Amino acid sequence: MKEFSADWLDLREPYDARARNPAVLDALAAAVADRASIAIVDLACGTGATLRAISSRLPRRQSWRLVDNDLRLLASAPSSAPAAGKNVVTIPLDIARELEAALDAPVDLVTISALLDLVSAAWLERLAVEIATRGLLVYAALTYDGRVTFEPADPVDAKMIGAVNRHQRGDKGFGPALGPTAALEAIARFEALGYSVVHGASDWTFGRRDRAIQFDLLAGWGAAALEGGALSLAEIDGWLARRRDHVASGRSSIDVGHVDFFARPTGAR
Ligand SMILES: C[S@@+](CC[C@H](N)C(=O)[O-])C[C@H]1O[C@@H](n2cnc3c(N)ncnc32)[C@H](O)[C@@H]1O
Repeated sequence: MKEFSADWLDLREPYDARARNPAVLDALAAAVADRASIAIVDLACGTGATLRAISSRLPRRQSWRLVDNDLRLLASAPSSAPAAGKNVVTIPLDIARELEAALDAPVDLVTISALLDLVSAAWLERLAVEIATRGLLVYAALTYDGRVTFEPADPVDAKMIGAVNRHQRGDKGFGPALGPTAALEAIARFEALGYSVVHGASDWTFGRRDRAIQFDLLAGWGAAALEGGALSLAEIDGWLARRRDHVASGRSSIDVGHVDFFARPTGAR
């Protein structure tokens, strides 16, 4: 699958932090407020953005297992105690194949950010069943949901995002990916397994000054559309040139839809 660079994760982290749904974070914080300590496994941790984003909302004594299969990203994750009361270990593991090994430890909460749109229906089912069997809490953030709006609009925008969303359904290492339907399917699955779920939007909102991330996104979308083959090279090239011109001249804003949810077994405190 396509690798995620540390530079891309660095670039998106402040936007992710701003986008995380506050009601979902409040539900997570309320559910664990009376615990003296908590053990967390962060699946597909990258460089540890989820830890940095939510650590302050959790009980002071925290034990984190940061799991990823990219050794370069794991090397940039916090591997020693970042603050008093926190224990952090990094675990190199391919969760497509060895999910169960990631969960086989004392764990209260599973966290997942910017991953679920990459996984298949079969893997999501495995994840949900493994989590529900263990009765764990789940915080799943920043799952792309296929909604993109551009300002100013361009006649080719809808065709490009259609192509990007079809590309999202390709195999990202977990089998055919759920892409834009992943969050809703995950929420429905946890509810069917007896979980109560709080969910909400966590859209990226890139303003006219957020040029670097807009340039990166456009490049990625151009490459994805090209691989799909539904648009000609000339169409993609023309769209990219017009959109880049809007970004460079400070006219462009882009919103990208995401969904966050917090799920806990019914009856769990
Ligand atoms: C979009 S990044 C999100 C990283 C991090 N959760 C964040 O929010 O910044 C997706 C992450 O999934 C990891 N990943 C993809 N496939 C994986 C697999 N099979 N096993 C473990 N990690 C995987 C990538 O290495 C990358 O760190």
